[in-house]
Amino acid sequence: MDIGLFALTETVIELKNADLTLGSAAASVHVLKGIDLTIDAGEAVGIIGPSGSGKSTLLMVLAGLERLDSGEIFIKNAPLHSFSEDALAEFRGRNIGIVFQSFHLIANMTALENVAVPLELAGISEAFDIARRELTAVGLGDRLNHYPGQLSGGEQQRVAIARALAPSPALLIADEPTGNLDTETGKQIADLLFAKQAERGMTLLLVTHDNSLAARCSRQIRVRSGEIVEDSAKRTVDQAVPA
Ligand SMILES: Nc1ncnc2c1ncn2[C@@H]1O[C@H](COP(=O)(O)OP(=O)(O)O)[C@@H](O)[C@H]1O
Ligand SMILES: [Mg+2]
Repeated sequence: MDIGLFALTETVIELKNADLTLGSAAASVHVLKGIDLTIDAGEAVGIIGPSGSGKSTLLMVLAGLERLDSGEIFIKNAPLHSFSEDALAEFRGRNIGIVFQSFHLIANMTALENVAVPLELAGISEAFDIARRELTAVGLGDRLNHYPGQLSGGEQQRVAIARALAPSPALLIADEPTGNLDTETGKQIADLLFAKQAERGMTLLLVTHDNSLAARCSRQIRVRSGEIVEDSAKRTVDQAVPA
């Protein structure tokens, strides 16, 4: 046994029988139906599936933004299902970066403030220096004092990526990050995400409608109606077993 192998296959996410129903009794939806999922450190996982199948909800659970009704979720071995709201928020701030389709920037803050203020709130020192460095690294060194409304969609998504990366999270979660961008800009944003993932050895979870984008991930998972119906990693394992 090679010690290096253990390092390569360190588990970063473990979902066990994850179950969640959303909505009121009159209009409830069984969104996640007993999902089991294990993801190793450094994997890039493309999550695909029809609209309404539960992809965003799954990401929100993995981001610690949505709680399960039952089942367990471990991130870096931490049992998030038994964390208090405060502990969850702190864990999220340190370990998980999130990028949304619609950028979610704060309109009355500059690009620099959008990245620096969350760091300051998390008690991280040198927040503005880190923010300046992260924005420069995504190509926005000359846009630090622009407000979101003064930036193009691609530039706004770069700010959001800088914000997500600034705490050096182990896990980067992106929900349709290119969904609001034209094809060329979307490709540049995807290139940036994959470059950052490679550079920092992060685990990347990417929901996308774009099959070619999912194909760039090292693993693809298909969700349908609240269940994982296909997993390229599992298929490989199954195929390795002689019939
Ligand atoms: N807060 C909510 N209340 C009720 N139903 C919800 C809520 N959030 C999501 N849903 C439903 O859960 C299902 C999955 O939603 P979602 O995770 O956003 O799917 P996807 O991202 O795959 O399009 C959908 O049918 C949606 O209408
Ligand atoms: Mg969605």
